[in-house]
Amino acid sequence: MGESRSSLSPENPSDLEVVPTQAGYDRWAEFYDGEDNPLVMLEEQHLGPLLGKVAGLVVADIGCGTGRHALRLAADGARVTAVDFSEAMLRRARAKPGAQGVNFVQHDLSQPFPLPSDSFDRVLCCLVLDHIQELHAFFSELRRLCRPDGAVVISVMHPAMTLRGVQARFVDPASGRRVGPLSHPHQMSDYIMAAVHAGLALGHLSEHAPDAALAARSPRAVKYVGWPLLLIMRLTCSAGKNGPPAGGRARRLA
Ligand SMILES: C[S@@+](CC[C@H](N)C(=O)[O-])C[C@H]1O[C@@H](n2cnc3c(N)ncnc32)[C@H](O)[C@@H]1O
Repeated sequence: MGESRSSLSPENPSDLEVVPTQAGYDRWAEFYDGEDNPLVMLEEQHLGPLLGKVAGLVVADIGCGTGRHALRLAADGARVTAVDFSEAMLRRARAKPGAQGVNFVQHDLSQPFPLPSDSFDRVLCCLVLDHIQELHAFFSELRRLCRPDGAVVISVMHPAMTLRGVQARFVDPASGRRVGPLSHPHQMSDYIMAAVHAGLALGHLSEHAPDAALAARSPRAVKYVGWPLLLIMRLTCSAGKNGPPAGGRARRLA
């Protein structure tokens, strides 16, 4: 990755208040957009080419949060359906300019997605997977939505962050405490095998670390310079829609 790695000392998780994921994002929503977020900044440098031109395409934004991607894609001419379970994150998204052009749906993604099969040219899922416990079922749902000639595009906090004891978290301005919406420490192989068992083909996989230029814009990135912060995948339907490969464990959500 071209940069020398910073100290690998793990963060201390003992002062982290872990809360249920939905409740955590309901609290985070108020200041989520205004935070210094190196993960978001890094992702915005790399994701665009994997989505390609979206004008006229039908796009699902799975775990849309405050609408960062959904609103931009709609402004670029896509027909966007955006799903999240946090009412407060959705409220932020719905209040933004252009929100009337997006179909926002409140839904818990641990349950089958309330969206039609084979209907989306792009299925986008950004910075959500680390909150999903059952990856096989989740990836099967991503694939179910995707048209045979479409693509699933994913970004997620790099599993190497888990090795430093890092998870998605914010500082509660009221208490000054670090608060972490419940996360699940998946490894790289968990993500890849969930995709494989869902019958998705890996077309692109890349790992990204902040460099000095990003650290100059993001104080929070400084201690992660040279350390993999972000994982990006682009997946396509590999073998038709007749189910996972032999021996696969992919299953629809109950
Ligand atoms: C880090 S934010 C990312 C938001 C947006 N995708 C982005 O990149 O800006 C993670 C989002 O995933 C949502 N999320 C996590 N688990 C979920 C679940 N089981 N069902 C629905 N939404 C979920 C959270 O509510 C939150 O809005």
